Amino acid sequence: MKPVIVVHGGSGACPDELCRASVDGVKAAARAGYAVLEKGASALDAVEAAVRSLEDNPAFDAGHGSVMNAAGDVELDAIIMDGSTLASGAVTSVRNIANPVTLARAVMEKTDHGILTDRGASLFAEKLGIPTVPTEALVTEMERKEWERQKCYSNQVKEEFNTQWSNDTVGAVALDRHGNLACATSTGGIRHKMVGRVGGAPIIGSGAYADNQSGAVSCTGHGESLLKVTLARLILFHVEQGRGITEAVEKSLQHMGERVRGGGGAIAVGPSGQWAANFTTVRMPWACVDGVALHYGIEPKEKNQEAP
Ligand code: GLY
Repeated sequence: MKPVIVVHGGSGACPDELCRASVDGVKAAARAGYAVLEKGASALDAVEAAVRSLEDNPAFDAGHGSVMNAAGDVELDAIIMDGSTLASGAVTSVRNIANPVTLARAVMEKTDHGILTDRGASLFAEKLGIPTVPTEALVTEMERKEWERQKCYSNQVKEEFNTQWSNDTVGAVALDRHGNLACATSTGGIRHKMVGRVGGAPIIGSGAYADNQSGAVSCTGHGESLLKVTLARLILFHVEQGRGITEAVEKSLQHMGERVRGGGGAIAVGPSGQWAANFTTVRMPWACVDGVALHYGIEPKEKNQEAP
């Protein structure tokens, strides 16, 4: 089986000054994930490595680079899912953690639960010896300025989601050489969100889903809209109905736009390595290594290619 990895750096209105860093960031993350797959490691290891790379990159709204909530704090959400067992782990509203995707994986592998939130997630991180990082280390100077400028939350349905100054949620999906699929999604959420607000990104079926029988999906976009249409499962529902991965992603994003005015994007990979990356917002940095080449883009319909 030829391994494949696809990553995204969030839909929305990536500002011109962040485009270069965002494209470089998704390319680096896809290469990091693919290096793991090439060694024969699992799809789960690959999506964790790719998302950690995106969380460590201040160009993206996840880990370092996250947006701030209404209180000027950073509350992070992440999920990871193993398509071979349907096991998943998630953390929501967790603070002072640089790589929430790794904590989400520990929830999946080391607890009997699927989601840990807020204080419980922090206590669990402490028990595992995961070091804390100060909030200031997770926030960029650009984010501070934008938080001050925006002043309050706006309900970012489609039109506004397309104009907000920000990158969004990050994610990865992978197929390993043993035929196993996995996905992971991580986010700082939406600027000026209420304290304790959780969007669709870390919720199984909305922000991510992986099943070896149909595909692995990671979503980005207006979190409340992802929740309303359970976007990740909707995409796989269309695949289960016989549609190709590309059509399933397009149809589901179109439905979210029409039914609830939600803007967003998604990446997906199927059991035979077919993959897709699409979005209904103005930009979404994405990259894919499929063994033949590294494919990448950020504008609608843009698809560049270079050596993997
Ligand atoms: N777009 C990130 C969120 O809604 O949480």
